[in-house]
Amino acid sequence: MEEFGSGIQQAVLAGGSASGRLAEDVRWGLSQPRKQLHSQYLYDSLGSRLFEAICALPEYRVTQAEQKLLDRYSNLIVSDLEGPVTLVELGPGSGEKLAQLIEPLLRNNIGVNVELVDISEAALDLATRTLTRFPSVPVFCHEAVYLDGLQRSIKRRHDAGSLLVAFLGSSLGNFAPSSAHTFLSNIQTVLRAGDRFLLGLDLVKPEQELTLAYDDPLGVTAAFNRNILVRLNRELAADFDLEWFGHRVIWNFASSSIEMYLESLCEQKVSIPGADCQIRFKEGEYIWTESSYKYTTSQIVSAGMESGFATRGQWVDEEVKFAVTAFEVL
Ligand SMILES: C[S@@+](CC[C@H](N)C(=O)[O-])C[C@H]1O[C@@H](n2cnc3c(N)ncnc32)[C@H](O)[C@@H]1O
Repeated sequence: MEEFGSGIQQAVLAGGSASGRLAEDVRWGLSQPRKQLHSQYLYDSLGSRLFEAICALPEYRVTQAEQKLLDRYSNLIVSDLEGPVTLVELGPGSGEKLAQLIEPLLRNNIGVNVELVDISEAALDLATRTLTRFPSVPVFCHEAVYLDGLQRSIKRRHDAGSLLVAFLGSSLGNFAPSSAHTFLSNIQTVLRAGDRFLLGLDLVKPEQELTLAYDDPLGVTAAFNRNILVRLNRELAADFDLEWFGHRVIWNFASSSIEMYLESLCEQKVSIPGADCQIRFKEGEYIWTESSYKYTTSQIVSAGMESGFATRGQWVDEEVKFAVTAFEVL
């Protein structure tokens, strides 16, 4: 356990860092018929900063829409939580949205403690800095994958009071629907009756808006995507030549998902000594790096209900098409 500053502590999972399986996952992913790299590896120190830059792009409207909804409704969302309130955020990014949930609680003199779960140390660092604006709020960080970190957070909850788990920024959209269902059920299982779960998800919208959001003219999302190769060069001593991999984005209408790829622009062989492998690429061959599934409002409610949650409220930005849904464990 490492002290980060007043009230802020970090626990790194026993058994090594959350990215300890990078080599194993890369070897496995790049030897599949459909080459793939897990999207969680997009978030190293630079990747987390590039993601924050994406959130500021006019074409990526997820962040603005969700923050606007939280501005309007965070009061209502937290209105009947009894203190002390444990707020757990899975994948907090900058921590700004969590700050929007903390403000109304503190205004009503309700005690709050925060548990942050993120695979990226840089994201945890950024979020804890954001939350130093609330000196009375203890913040504990878990550098961990979502469910491991949630289980660790729950062990630290107060016996009295309420617990709210926030999963914002459409992060659930990175799971294929069947995995999303399993993930929600696993969350529900570790929570108690009466605990809350707040889910922010991007909705289906016209293809042109979606492809522009993931392939912005400034090339920030392309840099975010290609940075995964920079990471493999640095951490696994790989020799990916960035010039020979292009950023590609496809709207998969059948599965309602934006798919992000890196396309090999020539026939090439890449060595990855840290993962003990050499990988051959054909010209035009893709590495799948992320999918972002888009939902309808009723699909979100059904997914929650099928996982054992009751819906307490749903707030929708009709222009951007984004929804924040509040669930309660039955
Ligand atoms: C799409 S971003 C969303 C960030 C923030 N919630 C927001 O709304 O802007 C996903 C966040 O989850 C983290 N993350 C991605 N995969 C993860 C995983 N498997 N376990 C834990 N954290 C993960 C990333 O580092 C990042 O902070």
